[in-house]
Amino acid sequence: MAKTILIIEDEPLLGAELKRHFERVGWRVELAEQLGLARSKLFDKGLLPPVVLADMNLPDGNSLDLLEEVKQNKIVGEWIFLTGYGSVADSVRALRLGAYDFLEKPVDFERLDLVISGAMRSAIAQRRLYDQLETGSRHFTVESFIGRSSAAEQIRAILRKLIDTPISALIVSGETGTGKGVVTKILHYSGQRQDAPMVEVNCSALPKDLLESELFGHEAGSFTGAKGRRRGLFEQADGGTLFLDEIAEMPVDLQSKLLKALEEKKFRRVGGDREIQVDVQVIAATNRDLLTCIEEGLFRKDLYHRLSVYQLRVPPLRERVIDLEQLVPLFIAEFNAKSGKSVSVIGERVWEKLKAHSWPGNVRELRNVIERCVLFSDTNELPVQWLHLQPEIYAPEESVTVPGGSLSGPDAVTPDHQFIHVPLDGSMGLDEMDRFIICAALEQNQHNVTATARMLNTTRDTLRYRINKYDIQLPDGA
Ligand SMILES: Nc1ncnc2c1ncn2[C@@H]1O[C@H](COP(=O)(O)OP(=O)(O)OP(=O)(O)O)[C@@H](O)[C@H]1O
Ligand SMILES: [Mg+2]
Repeated sequence: MAKTILIIEDEPLLGAELKRHFERVGWRVELAEQLGLARSKLFDKGLLPPVVLADMNLPDGNSLDLLEEVKQNKIVGEWIFLTGYGSVADSVRALRLGAYDFLEKPVDFERLDLVISGAMRSAIAQRRLYDQLETGSRHFTVESFIGRSSAAEQIRAILRKLIDTPISALIVSGETGTGKGVVTKILHYSGQRQDAPMVEVNCSALPKDLLESELFGHEAGSFTGAKGRRRGLFEQADGGTLFLDEIAEMPVDLQSKLLKALEEKKFRRVGGDREIQVDVQVIAATNRDLLTCIEEGLFRKDLYHRLSVYQLRVPPLRERVIDLEQLVPLFIAEFNAKSGKSVSVIGERVWEKLKAHSWPGNVRELRNVIERCVLFSDTNELPVQWLHLQPEIYAPEESVTVPGGSLSGPDAVTPDHQFIHVPLDGSMGLDEMDRFIICAALEQNQHNVTATARMLNTTRDTLRYRINKYDIQLPDGA
């Protein structure tokens, strides 16, 4: 977004000084000495400045009137007002119109720079939301959830019901890559809140303090590094949807604050006293079992109950293999379009392999596989050699116990027990997998270390070393 600032200021000296100041630090400056001129730049010349710095009272009117017109015309940008003698009525009106900040004259340039850079950041976020609204809403209808399995049909049927229901919160659960994000976008962009923003935050991506100020905003100087006032995502999502991805990763004390905000529909910014009213629908997504998280003390039960007005589970792809028949051509078409290739034939062997795979990364994994195949194709046929599917790696959500007849989870038991299934969703570390594989192999070999070492293609000593390292208990006599 270009760094353009519109300055509306009728005092020639101050106007010129501000212009020089901003040009020096790399801004393109448009200066208007009267409201009429500013209005014509915005409405006739199509100027779209991310930041406007306006004197409140001008010879030809009050600049709040112009802000009001701008808001009615959905022109995106942040407005900062300069006031000589601010009246309470003006400031109340400015707040109601969504002004970003006020600065008193005479201007303190250091403070001005801080406020302007905060406003620019906010304008960028605002523009992104606006663009998303413009393009996003057309893209997500109930039919965007592709698949002809009964599970997919059921999801579409539920989505149709949910988008007609004013629901304050819901949980979308499912393994990684199953389509929780898609479902959420459908709920928002086809739902009753589609004209307002959908704001998304991944709760695992930020440390607690930042997540708190991201969600609730902060007042200037409320914590080290908090420059300027900032509106949080709750405020940005007002009227729309707040999508809390990976909700299980939210720190427990922040969960309490979230619960309070949801129950009371208002909150305070970090370091602020003023209560801010909001009306947001919260969609929380998780690939963890929240009930287990509650048992482990990682998730608040009361928040769980508040969020689970409805729970939508998106099943893993391996439970709806038939959906491949629609998803594969869809992704081929997408990557044909992106790469200029024209793959149109899917051979028998490709189908067999695709259907036999257990898709631990679900639809996202499928999309990646198809992308690779389309990019590397030399003919119009999807190349089987680029599938690179590894049938021995598999990730059922109900984590697998051990092979040897006691595997759980759909499709998990392979007839000859040659395969081991481990989750690739981050829930298991490499060492844990190593331990798990060794335990499984030991069990299959009735805890005979020599036979197990042979099966794992390693030496008895290495295996012994790892058995000790992972503290694997062998039955007496083994
Ligand atoms: N039913 C579906 N129809 C069409 N595309 C889908 C469907 N399900 C998933 N996808 C596509 O698969 C990819 C992964 O989906 P998405 O990001 O929604 O998964 P997720 O469940 O949110 O994963 P994560 O837990 O990792 O965030 C996306 O590119 C999405 O567009
Ligand atoms: Mg997601």
